[in-house]
Amino acid sequence: VTDRVRVGVIGTGSLGTRHARTVAERVPKAALVAVTDERRDVAEVAATLSPETVHVPGHPTLLSDPAIDAVVITTPNDTHVEMICAAARAGKHIFCEKPIALDLAGANAALAAVSEAGVKLQVGFQRRFDGAYRAARDKLRSGKLGEIELVVATTRDPSPPPAVYFERCGSFFADTSIHDYDVLRFLTGLEVAEVHAVAATFAVEDIGTLATLDTAVTTIRLENGALATITNSRRSNYGYDVRIEVAGSKGKVAVGEHQQSRFETLTDRGATRDFVGSYWDLFEQAYVAEIQHFVDCVANDTEPEATGHDALRALEIAVLAERSYTEGRPVAASKLR
Ligand SMILES: NC(=O)c1ccc[n+]([C@@H]2O[C@H](COP(=O)([O-])OP(=O)(O)OC[C@H]3O[C@@H](n4cnc5c(N)ncnc54)[C@H](O)[C@@H]3O)[C@@H](O)[C@H]2O)c1
Repeated sequence: VTDRVRVGVIGTGSLGTRHARTVAERVPKAALVAVTDERRDVAEVAATLSPETVHVPGHPTLLSDPAIDAVVITTPNDTHVEMICAAARAGKHIFCEKPIALDLAGANAALAAVSEAGVKLQVGFQRRFDGAYRAARDKLRSGKLGEIELVVATTRDPSPPPAVYFERCGSFFADTSIHDYDVLRFLTGLEVAEVHAVAATFAVEDIGTLATLDTAVTTIRLENGALATITNSRRSNYGYDVRIEVAGSKGKVAVGEHQQSRFETLTDRGATRDFVGSYWDLFEQAYVAEIQHFVDCVANDTEPEATGHDALRALEIAVLAERSYTEGRPVAASKLR
């Protein structure tokens, strides 16, 4: 038992429970030893995931346990800076869901705490661990598709979250578009030079905040001059729709297969097949692989992929998009650095 990485999960809601289950059932090198959630009933359920798991009242108690090596943070977005700083001070290695902060001051404070404590930080950009995205990256990096020129990407959630979610999630750009911003950097290996965002509210009650934007188009100029368009929506109605294509001067890669079952029905009325319904259905392999990778990094003392630097860069793009939307004009990345 002692040579396994002992993990605690902070925030056992929708995704936190899934990460906790992954630790308990799908990572032989890890043990799920503790869970905590603001809602005791939720933590009690998560504590049944394995016989060696206990639920504890609040993250300070969990972090003060010297037997815990690493934590998974899956609380609401507006708590991440506080959680990362507290975990770092307690000497725990950290896996934190995106975004690591709602603004750049918060992100820099979190990264400083991590660096000072010398602990590992991995951010929940699971697409980096999806086999198709990795194959696309390798093809682009091989140079066989030429110079990167054009990127088209989309993330559309099936339906909006409940209204309370918007009080804590930060802007739509930092909450949702950030996955596409990260994948853009991951696939192209390029940084962003300029961002122009337009956005609207169609699917939720408009209370005039950046959180209740639910439809957005971000146009980006990359440092090599290539152009990207990213579209996002909180309401597709038909399923979880995530795709990207990256075109070079000699061809393109495309990722975005949404059929889950391997059969279709064909009749005189046409053909029907399923469409993936949720983030977990589309990315289960990637969510499991990212947690396995994190545990491996802690066990072997290696640096995780999907780093704090990646988290900061993606948040910078979100902040540029917020500014561009608010000011109604393109904003150069040089304004931030
Ligand atoms: N990578 C992805 O694709 C992806 C997908 C979904 C959610 N997320 C991220 O995961 C995080 C959680 O999202 P979710 O959908 O599971 O939300 P959720 O609301 O279902 O879960 C959050 C949980 O945190 C608990 N909580 C709130 N404050 C707390 C505190 N101070 N201490 C302990 N527990 C606290 C809540 O009671 C709740 O159970 C968010 O940061 C979100 O952005 C990422």
